[in-house]
Amino acid sequence: MEKKSFYITTPIYYPSDNLHIGHAYTTTIADAMARYKRIAGYDVLFLTGSDEHGQKIQRKAAEQNVTPIEYVDKIVASFQHLWEKLNISHDDFIRTTEERHHEVVQAIFQKIYDQGDIYKAAYEGRYCTPCETFWVERQLVDGKCPDCGRTVEVVQEESYFFRMSKYQDRLLSYIEENPDFIQPSSRRNEMINFIKGGLEDLCVSRTTFDWGIPVPFDTKHVVYVWFDALTNYITAAGYLDDRDKFSKFWPADIHLVGKEIVRFHSIIWPVILMALDIEVPKKVYGHGWLIMEGDKMSKSKGNVIDPLVLIEEFGPDAIRYFLLREITLGQDGNFSREALINRMNADLANDLGNLLHRSLSMIGRFNGGIIEAAGDVEGIDQELTELAQNTVIQYEKFMDDMDINAAIKAVWTLIGRTNKYIDETGPWALAKDEAKRGRLNTVLYNLAETLRIVSILIYPLMPVTAPKIWAQLGIDSDFGAVSLTDAKGWGKLPGGTKVGALEPLFPRVEDKPVEAVAPVIEPVKTKAQSTAESASDMPEVTIEDFAKMDLRVVKVLAAEKVAKADKLLKLTVDLGTEERTIISGIAKHYAPEELVGKDVVMIINLKPAKIRGIESRGMVLAASCGEKLALVTAAEMVPGSRVK
Ligand code: MSP
Repeated sequence: MEKKSFYITTPIYYPSDNLHIGHAYTTTIADAMARYKRIAGYDVLFLTGSDEHGQKIQRKAAEQNVTPIEYVDKIVASFQHLWEKLNISHDDFIRTTEERHHEVVQAIFQKIYDQGDIYKAAYEGRYCTPCETFWVERQLVDGKCPDCGRTVEVVQEESYFFRMSKYQDRLLSYIEENPDFIQPSSRRNEMINFIKGGLEDLCVSRTTFDWGIPVPFDTKHVVYVWFDALTNYITAAGYLDDRDKFSKFWPADIHLVGKEIVRFHSIIWPVILMALDIEVPKKVYGHGWLIMEGDKMSKSKGNVIDPLVLIEEFGPDAIRYFLLREITLGQDGNFSREALINRMNADLANDLGNLLHRSLSMIGRFNGGIIEAAGDVEGIDQELTELAQNTVIQYEKFMDDMDINAAIKAVWTLIGRTNKYIDETGPWALAKDEAKRGRLNTVLYNLAETLRIVSILIYPLMPVTAPKIWAQLGIDSDFGAVSLTDAKGWGKLPGGTKVGALEPLFPRVEDKPVEAVAPVIEPVKTKAQSTAESASDMPEVTIEDFAKMDLRVVKVLAAEKVAKADKLLKLTVDLGTEERTIISGIAKHYAPEELVGKDVVMIINLKPAKIRGIESRGMVLAASCGEKLALVTAAEMVPGSRVK
C-alpha cells in the first residue's frame, strides 16, 4: 500500500544577512513535525530554502561591491551549514535563483497574463524595501510601514498588476468554509478582517532594478519578489517537472511561517493558486516571534543571537528542545540564556538524564547489565505501563494537532512519574532480598522499557539524543528504522538485552547565566544625602526589572515649544531605525535651539501618552537637583545604541 504523504515547508529565508535564532526556531518546528510524520509512517517532503531576489538583496550586494549572485552564494552556504549543525532533515533546499524555479515563475506569470488576470498599468504607491511590500497611503501608520515601522519609499513606475480583487469573494468563502486553513484562529480572524476591508489588485512587477526573474513577455520588468518567492512551494513539489510527485505532495499540508507573513501565505498565495486552478494548501500556521529583551529579535535592532554559537556551547538537541518546549507555539516567547540553562538542568539533566542514569546503573549493579524479562507484576507497575501507553496515544494526538508543547509535556509527565516509580519501588531494597528477585526484574524491566518508548517519542525533538538512549539500552536494531508503532504496545524490549556503555546525556550546566552587566558608578553624595542612612528611598529592583527598560541613545533632530505650555518642548528624535516625537518637560531649562544635535538618553519602550493632544512615545532622561536640571547625554554614540 502506498504511504500517506505529508508536505511541510518553512518560509524561504532572505539571504540578506546571516540567520539568527528566530529563524532557527521556525526551521526547528518544521523539522520536528517532519521527523514525527516520518516515524508515523508518512512519506514526507520537507522543504526549506532561500528567497534570493529583490531590491533589498540587490542593494546589499551593491554596498559590498559584489554581484548579487556572489553575495547570496556566500550567505546561502552559511544557511546550509547552520541547518546541518542543527540536524535539520529537509528533503530539498530550494534557491529562487535556480533554473527549475525560473521556469515555473515565468510559466505561471505567462499563464495568468494570458487569461487576463495580469494587466499593465501605472503604479504609484509606497514600498517598504526591508519587507519587500507595497502599501497604499491609507495603510501606512504615521507615514511608515505598518509591519516594521520603517520608512517607505515612493514608487512610481509602469507595472503589471494581478487581479486579486476578482478572487476576493472566492477566497473569503474558502477561509470561512475551512476553519483549519489559517491557524491559530486569532490569525484567521485577522485575515478575514483584512479581506473584508477590500483586496486591492497587487503590483507584481518592477522596473527600477533588475535582480529578479524577467517577466517573460516584457523583459524590462522583473517579477515582484513575493510572487516569485511563494511559487517556490510548487516548484519544489514538481509542478513543471514531476507530475507524479506533484500529485502526491500537492496541496501542501502545512506552510509554517512567522505571524508577520501569514498575510502573504493566506491571501496572495491562495489567490495565485486559484487563478492557476491549483488546489490551495491545507494549512498556513503562523507562529509567534522569539523576543529578546522585549523586542522582536532582528539584525536592525542589534539584539540577535547566533544559533551557531549556542549549538557550539550547548549542543543542537538542547537548543532544539528549549525552542520547542519553552515557547508556546503560536505565541511570542522570550529567549534568554538563563531560561535555556534552567531548562537544560531541570528537564534534560535532572529528569531525563537522571532517569537513564539511575536505571542503567541499577541494571548494571543488580543484574550485571542484563535487562531481565519482567517477573511478578503489581498495581504500581500496571499504573506505569498504562501511563506509558496513554502517553503515546496523547502524544500522537497532540503532534497531529501541531500542539508540540503539549506533546512534550506529556512525555515529561511520564519521565517524572517513572523517576517517582523508582523511589516508590526501591529497587536497592528489592536487590537485597533474593525472594524479591521477580519484583526487582519487573521494576528494572519497566524502567528500561519506558526509556525505550521515551527515546522514540523524543526523537523528533532531539534526534541525536534519541539514538544515544537506544544504544545505551543495548537495543541492537537500527534506530534509523524506528517507527511510532514500536512505541505502541508494552513489552517490545526483549528480555535478556545487555545494556551498552553508560554515558551522561546532559551534564548539568554549572556556569552562571550571563547577566546584563550594570555599570558601576560610585554615587556622588549631595550634602543632604550624605547625612541620610541610605542613598535610595525607592524599593529594591532586580537586574531583570532594570532590563525591562529599553534605554537608548537618540539624537535630537528638532525641538519646538508646545503652544500654551511653558514647561513643555516637542522633540523629534532619531532612534537609528525610526524617528519619534516626544514631549518633554524641560522648556524651563533648555532653549529649543540648544537641543538640536544633542545625543541624549531616552527610554523607548515607555507606554505612549497623549500630552496636550500630541502623542509622546518615549521620555528623555535628566538629572535634577533643586532648580537645576541636566539631560543625560552620550556624546558621539550612534543613535539606537543601548544604554545598560
Ligand atoms: N523571504 C521571506 C519569506 C518568503 S516565503 C515564500 C521572509 N524571509 S525572512 O528571512 O525575513 O523571514 C523568514 C521567517 O523567519 C519568517 O517566518 C519570520 O517570521 C521568521 N523570523 C524572523 N525573525 C524571527 C523571530 N525573531 N522569531 C521567530 N521567527 C522569526 O520573510
